[in-house]
Amino acid sequence: MEKEKTIMDQDTVSLDDEGNAVVIIDQTLLPGRTELIRLKTAEEIWDAIYLLKVRGAPAIGVTAAFGIYLLAKSCKTENYDIFLAEFRKNKEYLDSSRPTAVNLSWALKRMERVVTDHASLPVPQILSLLKKEAEEIRDEDIRVCRRIGEYGLTLVKKGDGILTHCNAGQLATVRYGTATAPIYLGQEKGYGFHVFADETRPLLQGARLTAFELASAGVDVTLICDNMASTVMKNGWVNAVFVGCDRVAANGDTANKIGTSGVAILAAHYGIPFYVCAPTSTIDLATPTGADIRIEERKPEEVSEMWYRERMAPDGVKIFNPAFDVTDHSLITGIVTEYGVLRPPYEEAFRSLPGR
Ligand code: MRU
Repeated sequence: MEKEKTIMDQDTVSLDDEGNAVVIIDQTLLPGRTELIRLKTAEEIWDAIYLLKVRGAPAIGVTAAFGIYLLAKSCKTENYDIFLAEFRKNKEYLDSSRPTAVNLSWALKRMERVVTDHASLPVPQILSLLKKEAEEIRDEDIRVCRRIGEYGLTLVKKGDGILTHCNAGQLATVRYGTATAPIYLGQEKGYGFHVFADETRPLLQGARLTAFELASAGVDVTLICDNMASTVMKNGWVNAVFVGCDRVAANGDTANKIGTSGVAILAAHYGIPFYVCAPTSTIDLATPTGADIRIEERKPEEVSEMWYRERMAPDGVKIFNPAFDVTDHSLITGIVTEYGVLRPPYEEAFRSLPGR
């Protein structure tokens, strides 16, 4: 009998067969509805990223790469200078959709290099190269996540309890995820992990996305509120923490979903190893420390109203809603990349990476 298709059989981001639209799973509708949407215009792509219809650092990068290709394709000119000016305008616009995840600007800069490195070619040929580059960014993401999974798996043993925060899963990448990659690979090999997914206030990526995708893949997952992490750790149910990240500074400080640094502090208190899973594209050597990372602040209504039937805070109360926080490098046991598990001192470890 043919295996029933699940969300895991669908790439989070793809280009449609005709090359006319970026196709994404609308993550704001999960877990209730699985709907694919087609993005064609600059505004649709910007909104999808800003509104978190597509989210997670690597998935945003791939969306931007396919998106800028589509926008370049719709610029009907044979004149290189006009083409480049229009390309840069679209690049700046897409880049402004979210500030913290470096993968967005990383992918857009990579696409821009294709245009500037081939200034002598006719525009149609540049367009084919842009398509190829976007596909390569997508394919690399799949390969890199699989490698992160392989290295991550060496850090845990059969039957372990693993805690994760937010969604650094398949839905945050094209396939496998980063923090979930060791879990999926372990699942294939019968490791029998027990996973705790923090619900991740205020946008519930842990509840709506991580718990959903892990359960769809048959992983033993237990959902907890963010403030229960200490209890499950104290009970001895967690052997390792795996989280994703949006930007790693040159000293190893790491920005990830709000609440991650609290989990790291708890893990240190209970003597539990805390691993950050990061494609090397997320390591930003131009940002010296975590204090230099720009942290996105989002609307107050996400805290006071979203998900509730009625407003759950007094009118006019002050609300602070940072979307990310920075985990100090001293709290990170290892950074799991596609080249292996990096250990402190991170400055030195980053220098040993290929191409750095
Ligand atoms: O605001 P989000 O949902 O885009 O935040 C996502 C995260 O913080 C992820 O942990 C991070 O992007 C890594 S995804 C592999």
